[in-house]
Amino acid sequence: MKMNRAIIEKWTDTVTPFYYYDLNILKQTVEAAKNEADKRGYVLHYATKANANPKLLKIIFAAGFGADCVSGNEILRSMECGVDPELITFAGVGKTDVEINTGLDNSIFTFNCESIPEMENIDRLAKAKGKTAHVSIRINPDVDAKTHEYISTGKKENKFGISAWDFDKVIEKLKALDSLKLISLHFHVGSQITDMSVFAEVCSRVNSFNQWFRERGFDLGHVNVGGGLGIDYQTPDENLIPDFASYFAVFEQNLKLYPGQKLHFEPGRSIVAQCGSLISRVLYVKEGKSKDFVIVDAGMSDLIRPALYHAHHHIENLSSNAPEKIYDVVGPICESSDCFDRDVPLAETKRGDFIALRSAGAYGEVMASQYNLRSIPDSMFSE
Ligand code: LLP
Repeated sequence: MKMNRAIIEKWTDTVTPFYYYDLNILKQTVEAAKNEADKRGYVLHYATKANANPKLLKIIFAAGFGADCVSGNEILRSMECGVDPELITFAGVGKTDVEINTGLDNSIFTFNCESIPEMENIDRLAKAKGKTAHVSIRINPDVDAKTHEYISTGKKENKFGISAWDFDKVIEKLKALDSLKLISLHFHVGSQITDMSVFAEVCSRVNSFNQWFRERGFDLGHVNVGGGLGIDYQTPDENLIPDFASYFAVFEQNLKLYPGQKLHFEPGRSIVAQCGSLISRVLYVKEGKSKDFVIVDAGMSDLIRPALYHAHHHIENLSSNAPEKIYDVVGPICESSDCFDRDVPLAETKRGDFIALRSAGAYGEVMASQYNLRSIPDSMFSE
């Protein structure tokens, strides 16, 4: 148990569950990613969907990150928290007119287009404002991200992106849609990718698509390879800061950019996951047949990842030094899927103990719901 107990003890009287963010870890992560990117001239757009807490966003944008947004509200929140609109990319297969207008009014960097009908709509809305929208084509490269099927996005059967067999139509459309300007190719094949060979495969696909557009007279200034870098959920303290140097090196070694082309990334999880924990209190320890249940006051409404993706979050008892026992750690919600993990070794646990669910900074707070009319968890910070 390496998490700082003194910090948690500070919140003994705080209502649980709450998200706890160590802003020092966030700053170190942001700095590591930015330094490695700057060395290579890469541009980073933080994927706001991973965590849109204003305190975190302000730190990330103050360090010079752009934003990768997937809704009009994410665009507005990111701008409120200091992002330069010229560094905002706007992705998603179902952008509404209101959201597209938000992007146009703020002259964002690019709309990542996911279909021909969407291109037509953005052109129509841009024309109505007398503007030219800068767009990127999100290409579905048909690459297997080798991650959970729900967070795999780059296979031809997924709903994302435009596939190679539609490129001729895209080019025809681009000629006709004179309020659109194609400036970039965009890719994102999935999330929580830990096998670097997946990114090497992405690079080889990007190279051929980049060449294809080049040969047809497109002088594109940008290539965006999305996000996806995974983190260590098993042993977070051993890898608090992801290995950005090795990640970027894959692109440096495998991607062929044309002179003047800039490479963009959209990291989400790798920036914010390890700085956050969901802190919960033990309500009851209930005797089971072969092992006991630790019933905590956090549930799947606060952190849905284990229920939705069978995701593993390292669990620690912050209040006990007793020898370990094996428990199932469950929440209070009326569903069997409301289980954080089975067969968890925990220091012997009793009512009132603080339990930390680690690596919860990404896709935790943002995915919280009010299921069972529960409250959305509060957030606490340490510098
Ligand atoms: N760019 C695009 C176009 C994306 O769709 C995503 C994530 C990212 C960037 C950021 O990917 P990251 O660096 O965070 O892997 N709720 C799931 C993850 C969903 C990811 C969706 N797209 C989870 O809890 O694991």
